[in-house]
Amino acid sequence: MTSPLESPMAVTVRVPAKINLELFVGPRGEDGYHSLATVYQAVGIHDEVTAAYHNEWGCSVSGRDADRVPTDESNLALKAARTLAERTGGQDPVHLSIRKEIPVAGGMAGGSADAAAALLACDALWETGLSKDDLDEVAAEIGSDVPFLLHGGTAVGSGRGEVITAVLAKGTYHWVFVPSLDTGLSTPAVYRAFDERMAGMAIEDPTPSATLMSALRAGDPMALAPVLDNDLQPDAIALRPDIGEVIEAAMGFGALAAIVSGSGPTVAVLAESTEGAIDLAVSLTASGVAGDILRATGPVAGAHIIPTTRV
Ligand code: C5P
Repeated sequence: MTSPLESPMAVTVRVPAKINLELFVGPRGEDGYHSLATVYQAVGIHDEVTAAYHNEWGCSVSGRDADRVPTDESNLALKAARTLAERTGGQDPVHLSIRKEIPVAGGMAGGSADAAAALLACDALWETGLSKDDLDEVAAEIGSDVPFLLHGGTAVGSGRGEVITAVLAKGTYHWVFVPSLDTGLSTPAVYRAFDERMAGMAIEDPTPSATLMSALRAGDPMALAPVLDNDLQPDAIALRPDIGEVIEAAMGFGALAAIVSGSGPTVAVLAESTEGAIDLAVSLTASGVAGDILRATGPVAGAHIIPTTRV
């Protein structure tokens, strides 16, 4: 038997996907990143990452789209673990087991979610003693969405998306997610298309909209629906016209709103209720525009440790 006081041999973290209720894109900075005003919401589609001591660094992936996730050094979760190890003065190697439910390259921050989960799991396994702010700093270095995935809930992201401020939000929202029938979209490619479309135009530093904030304070999906907004949507649709068809179909089936999630291609469809979401999922599946539809509510908690069986 292992005493509860002994250090763990493995830590498992559950981490949600995100959508952007609002994604306003500002000018591109010298570092290549755009300034953003975004409102994130964490939604109940989860990956799980287990960090366990091992004789060498590595990772393995199971679950949805597993064959599309690299397991070499380019894996974002592995990068996050190694960055944290370096930052804390060297640590024993771990193997990361990633169980996926979040669509890959779908605009729902699947890779960033796994990175956030790996950071939290390794931080606990290695007992680094880092503060929350320190961990946020490492998270921001890994990717713009990673700090939000540690945070969860509903929050404003500024800077390049990595500066997180919690938002006063009431209620639960019912979402249907339509992942692409085809492959994912590359985030840099969508931002490049945005740059080309906006070339020569003056772009101001964006700010979150007051109407979206008041819809969230009221907890009212009917008020939220018309103010959902994504500056990258035209570019995602230009690169992948099938996304436009999904949005049109969802609206035709009575969705309150349908919007590209982040840089796409997943479409987030807002329903009025659980029943409404089930009806939309059934209609969208039957219509043939969508394959493997997901349903979830938001907001949900960010990355969190879950109990594991000790070995
Ligand atoms: O930060 P992350 O690695 O997730 O960003 C992926 C890519 O998305 C960046 O390399 C960049 O091309 C684009 N991006 C951007 N502006 C942001 C966030 C991301 O141009 N604020």
